[in-house]
Amino acid sequence: MIVKKTWRQKSILFLTGFFLISLLFACQTASINESSTSTATPVTEKTFSTQSFAVAYPDRELTTSPARLPELPYAANALEKAIDAETMKLHHDRHHAAYVKNLNAALQKYPELQNKSVEAMLRDLNSVPEDIRETVRNNGGGHLNHTIFWQIMSPNGGGEPTGEIAQQINQTFGSFDAFKKQFNQAGGDRFGSGWVWLVRNPQNQLQIVTTPNQDSPIMDSLYPIMGNDVWEHAYYLRYQNQRAEYLNNWWNVVNWSEINRRIQAVSQQDDT
Ligand SMILES: [Fe+2]
Repeated sequence: MIVKKTWRQKSILFLTGFFLISLLFACQTASINESSTSTATPVTEKTFSTQSFAVAYPDRELTTSPARLPELPYAANALEKAIDAETMKLHHDRHHAAYVKNLNAALQKYPELQNKSVEAMLRDLNSVPEDIRETVRNNGGGHLNHTIFWQIMSPNGGGEPTGEIAQQINQTFGSFDAFKKQFNQAGGDRFGSGWVWLVRNPQNQLQIVTTPNQDSPIMDSLYPIMGNDVWEHAYYLRYQNQRAEYLNNWWNVVNWSEINRRIQAVSQQDDT
């Protein structure tokens, strides 16, 4: 009787122990899974934030599966204050379209690159196979630069900047007029084809830079806040060789609302 009771007790103890160990193991597994989820998200965000400092928009990178020509956000003749309709049509429908087409053609050979955004490839051009590197640089850059360009112009643009961008321009350059003068000078001095930009550098300072051809500031870890296209295809029909006149008139269509959105987007990205 005593032996039987001990055996029962042992069985109960064994089963209870087994149950408790199983429960403990289950809890530990759940705990590990939970901590992976909760720590993975911030780590991923932090990595993304660091790597994507120089992105057009933190959450709106240009896809390459395939790259697509964005529609103009206004009619071709809407920017007549600065740019004629024929130039806009050629510029968008032919030049920008060609960059998109050439980029997609180059990436056909490398399907794995189609999972990368234009920005990701431009930030790390050395990771792009050598035989298409220049094509991606020129046409990926052309696609990104022009996508930004259409957005930072508007038929309702022009005038003095407002909001955060106005404040930062005044702090950095002294006044809007001084900034405009430096920007126009830099755009005029850019030899041959290229772009003039207002960027934010990694030290969070505003800076005016120019890039040759279709190079994007993000290739140098600079965030493009606004930029003007100084290729002849951007102005030659109306202005012929008078690039300075085009640069002056361009301010009549600058979309300060969009430019404020761009500067706020990169500021918010720093906070993540
Ligand atoms: Fe252009």
